[in-house]
Amino acid sequence: MDMNWKFSQTDTAGAIKPGFNDSKWRTLNLPHDWSIEGSFKEEPAQLARGGFLPTGIGWYRKHFVLPAAASGKNIWIEFDGVYQNSDVWINGQHLGHYPSGYMSFCYERTKFLKKGENIITVRVDNSLQPNTRWYSGSGIYRHVWLNITSPLHIAQWGTYITTPKVDSALAMVAVKTTINNKTIGNKNAVLRSVVTDAKGNEVGRTETPVNVNGNDSLFCEQKLTIAAPSLWSVDHPYLYNMKSIVVSNGKIVDEVNTSFGIRDIQFSVEKGFLLNGKQVKINGVCLHHDAGSVGAAVPESMWIRRLKLLKEMGCNAIRTSHNAMAPEFLDICDQMGFLVMDEPFDEWKSGKVKYGYNSYFNEWWQPDLINFIRRDRNHPSVIMWSAGNEILEQRVAGGDTVLQALMETFHKEDPTRPVTTGNDYIAADDGSARVSFLNMLDIVGYNYVDRWRKRRELYYCIDHQDHPNWKMIGTENVSMRGVRGNYFAGNYPNIDSAVVTAADMPTVIRTEQLWKFTATHDYVMGDFMWTGIDYLGEARWPNKNSSAGVIDLCGFQKDGYYFYQSQWTTKPMLHVFPHWNWKGREGKIIPVTIFTNCDTVELFVNGRSFGMKSMEFPRQGNANGWNVYALPKVNATTADLHLSWDVPFEAGTIKAVGRKDGKIVLQKEIHTTGAPVAVKLSVDTTIVNVTARDVAHIKIEVVDANGLVVPDAGNLLEVTVSGAGKLIGLDNGNPTDLTPMKSNQRKLFNGLALAVIQPGEAAGNIQVSVSAAGLKSASLNITAIKN
Ligand code: GAL
Repeated sequence: MDMNWKFSQTDTAGAIKPGFNDSKWRTLNLPHDWSIEGSFKEEPAQLARGGFLPTGIGWYRKHFVLPAAASGKNIWIEFDGVYQNSDVWINGQHLGHYPSGYMSFCYERTKFLKKGENIITVRVDNSLQPNTRWYSGSGIYRHVWLNITSPLHIAQWGTYITTPKVDSALAMVAVKTTINNKTIGNKNAVLRSVVTDAKGNEVGRTETPVNVNGNDSLFCEQKLTIAAPSLWSVDHPYLYNMKSIVVSNGKIVDEVNTSFGIRDIQFSVEKGFLLNGKQVKINGVCLHHDAGSVGAAVPESMWIRRLKLLKEMGCNAIRTSHNAMAPEFLDICDQMGFLVMDEPFDEWKSGKVKYGYNSYFNEWWQPDLINFIRRDRNHPSVIMWSAGNEILEQRVAGGDTVLQALMETFHKEDPTRPVTTGNDYIAADDGSARVSFLNMLDIVGYNYVDRWRKRRELYYCIDHQDHPNWKMIGTENVSMRGVRGNYFAGNYPNIDSAVVTAADMPTVIRTEQLWKFTATHDYVMGDFMWTGIDYLGEARWPNKNSSAGVIDLCGFQKDGYYFYQSQWTTKPMLHVFPHWNWKGREGKIIPVTIFTNCDTVELFVNGRSFGMKSMEFPRQGNANGWNVYALPKVNATTADLHLSWDVPFEAGTIKAVGRKDGKIVLQKEIHTTGAPVAVKLSVDTTIVNVTARDVAHIKIEVVDANGLVVPDAGNLLEVTVSGAGKLIGLDNGNPTDLTPMKSNQRKLFNGLALAVIQPGEAAGNIQVSVSAAGLKSASLNITAIKN
């Protein structure tokens, strides 16, 4: 149902009427976010948290013809997410009002639909501000579906697949299916459940006769065994498919496919998290739902690109902070092998913002939570639920009563996963979270565990001693953060702003210290750092976005990204920073910093060695004898998790040589560059699919006369797209660049910009060219295909 909607930002009550003339309204395809189309403005202050973009009221209308096959069928309309306070009408009849901006919801009202042309009207009201602590987007920013089924059918989110017994020889798969009968009389049928492997081969099936009363539902439990199952894991995200088939009078009347994984999850007080019996440290990141220049209407391939980068960093887990993500986001996590902490709420009854979820929590939390769990509980990636983030009730008498109701709902709808909350007050602190509240959780979640007073370095220790039965996880903690390519310490008032620093060192050190603790304490399951990727909003003017990520708003890695890669991956890597363009600072010290997993690194400046350095973490103990080590011993020069050399600047080349076991495994060079002479484009794909919410990402850089990329360039670019596609976002990752996201002009920021190109509805060629004054321009072609 995504194509050809009419849209207006004028609040027009008459638009409910079927005969309303919407011919002057704009035509667009969903998903659509009107906030991201606007301009950043400092006023009014209520929009500050949301990223200074317009909100307001919007109307959508779509004329559609029901297929002839729909006659006599059961039809429901499903919204993956509308921000927010939506009202929906079919042919002028009100279907309902739905407040939440993030949850998926659906309407089952066949009686308002008629043969031939129908009209659906949606009013979206995001005018009450502030209702969010971060950028939300506005509008029907996710997909809409029209589901046509037989009156005897499997309910919406009506399959629930679990794997109660898993080992390498045999897995037991249990499936609970809800079948609806929307006719008056009772119906005999057969529920057939068929499991196929990733190649489509059938590996199990079972059939159960059912008798469903008229206008009633039936809950059917089945069990299957799968021999020699391929287990789902982060390194081997193997998926099976369950086809649930309803057969009535010998005919298939409904069919639903559910993808699932076979995996065993355990949570231990001593050992943390175990996946298929093996301890896995949760190396996680928190993510918001927007993707920079496209706002909240995020094409799937943008998530795939972003999650690939996180995977290459060694990240294995995502926290959906602090709301339901698009359903396809979890599909991608299943396919790529991420563990997910699925979190629906940032507030309960006590609000953080005036018009936030608190204003309708009492009425909506339970139906919303049930839908959320039922929608997401078949995903193997989802390993735990979080009932909320920094919930104010954690410290308030009676807060545990609210928690208890939520816990009961989680446990009833899904007894297979534990529930946590991200608590920013730990038990051992003054004014702490209430022990009765934390005691109730299956896993106690800690946000900023090192925040409090003199006990910062103790992290989880005191709570662990005082409450030896608590399972513990870092639900949100410090990350490397910072602005990509920004090497001036100006943001830190206690540091001379004229000094160039290699990074935000206090944050680097704090992050390294926390990781040392998390890595060496098995009882801490792991951590979700704040955040994997920069997100819009939660920023002070003239910043439009938070810089908490280790990847910027465009999906370009910051230096801090490589810290995690150095700790979380084993393939030799070495990252050197800053760049070496410091004209005017000749002879002044520039700290050159390296994140690496090599044993040693030697730094050369214009061919002269500045010495070999190494770090050691975790430290090796003696193996089988005094002074006998499992790996060759390298004398460490620092207890930090980065290496650093103070180098007086001279133009030329710095070279870092990484060794493992005494052998050179990597060499990286950074050169002083000349002025830019030409634009350089790189694209992640030259073929995009017109039907699949696919985009191409074009990285824009400039090069000097020797072809070297100029890392500190800031040239103004102009992007021109013609043919079978369009530019849907142009950004550079600079938090203070307030150029509208839909503009086709933008400056490079520290050498980089990203253009996102989306195909139209027809196959064909898309030509993209990028120019900058005084430079040789560049162009490329992308082919839009129709599968
Ligand atoms: C945390 C909160 C996040 C974000 C972050 C900013 O306390 O849970 O949502 O606001 O602070 O640093």
